[in-house]
Amino acid sequence: MSDRPGGRRLLVRDLAQLATPAAGEAPLRGDALAAVEVVRDAYVLCEDGRIASFGPMRELDAGLRESDGELEEIDGRGLCAVPGLVDCHTHACFAGDRVDEFELRATGASYEELHATGGGILATVQATRSAGEAALTDAVRRHRRWMRRAGTTAFEAKSGYGLDRETELASLRAIREAGGIPTWLGAHAVPPEFADADAYLDFALAEVLPEAARLAAAADVFLEEGAFNVDQARRYLTACRAAGLALRLHGDQFTEQGAIPLAVELGARSVDHLEATGEAGIRMLAASDVVGVLLPASALVLDRPMPPARALVDAGAAVALATDFNPGSAFCESLPLVCSLACTQLRLSPAEALGACTVNAAYVLGRADRKGRLAPGFDADVVLLDAPDWRYLAYHLGGQVVSRTIAAGRAVR
Ligand code: NIG
Ligand code: FE
Repeated sequence: MSDRPGGRRLLVRDLAQLATPAAGEAPLRGDALAAVEVVRDAYVLCEDGRIASFGPMRELDAGLRESDGELEEIDGRGLCAVPGLVDCHTHACFAGDRVDEFELRATGASYEELHATGGGILATVQATRSAGEAALTDAVRRHRRWMRRAGTTAFEAKSGYGLDRETELASLRAIREAGGIPTWLGAHAVPPEFADADAYLDFALAEVLPEAARLAAAADVFLEEGAFNVDQARRYLTACRAAGLALRLHGDQFTEQGAIPLAVELGARSVDHLEATGEAGIRMLAASDVVGVLLPASALVLDRPMPPARALVDAGAAVALATDFNPGSAFCESLPLVCSLACTQLRLSPAEALGACTVNAAYVLGRADRKGRLAPGFDADVVLLDAPDWRYLAYHLGGQVVSRTIAAGRAVR
């Protein structure tokens, strides 16, 4: 088998525009986050799965244009190219659905009522435990197809719906098998067979972490009232860090419980959600290297306040955008839709939204050296938008804005 991932050349020509976050050290902040390089009447050339070059059509070397056979061409007229989108926060490994809960919520049911009817994270845990590894792998593959249709070329996915040894490890393997970057969300909820969170963590750290650390790239914890408190989160994350995992936190979703100070203390990659973050948290995050991951789809679905994105960016924080794709709070795999929400609800510009779901999301996943920008040597992950202007990515609310997705130099959709 060839070790050249693309194995051939792919030329996209006559693009209305090509847009990429401008060069700058990841994660992008402040003015650098808002800097987009736009080339009109553009081409992009992919070779062996990497970007070889891009620029205006007039600079496309005549000899190259004449070569055929070994060079696949895509007619880019009426289309715009942006980097493949990077979804750095999903819960794509689950079985079953929560559509009944969705209906109950639509007509005004409270969380208490939902809990009484067996809803919430633990309902998905039950379905996921009984699915088996093959069905979980199929589920992640199916979700990846949906993501690709929406322009996502790299995605993180968390375990956290198993919460027993077998299903947590099966989830991490399923995510890898389906091409995702796995995060061990071993501390998502306390499963019913344990008396309390500490007893569950005793088990998870002793019995699951050693193997999870071999399969996952990062660890994540839900730091919230009713889930894990700050001491439990510190204990979990410290053990995971010692096992070599990068650290993430679900924090400040409903209440501030010290997630940002803990993330800074432990040198976490990110703290995600931030709907409840106040001024002190904004200042502390802005002064740190921790990325704030904004998840406006889940805030919208749960009818929660939006995170203070504008204040975070203005204060100098590094932010990323992600879907939070999951069966409960955000059954949404579309980063273009999230970009729309970023512009209309979070007050980010289209350029800031683009940087947040490309370069900065890639940084959260430790891949900013290869993903998130169109630049020579970067992975040839490209989204072709059915649009005359790249800002349609956010402007076209819920529309079919993605015409084609190219991953590693191959048109995958
Ligand atoms: O990020 N907050 C915790 N976990 C998920 C929700 C998962 C679920 O509802 O199944 C979130 O929103
Ligand atoms: Fe989440």
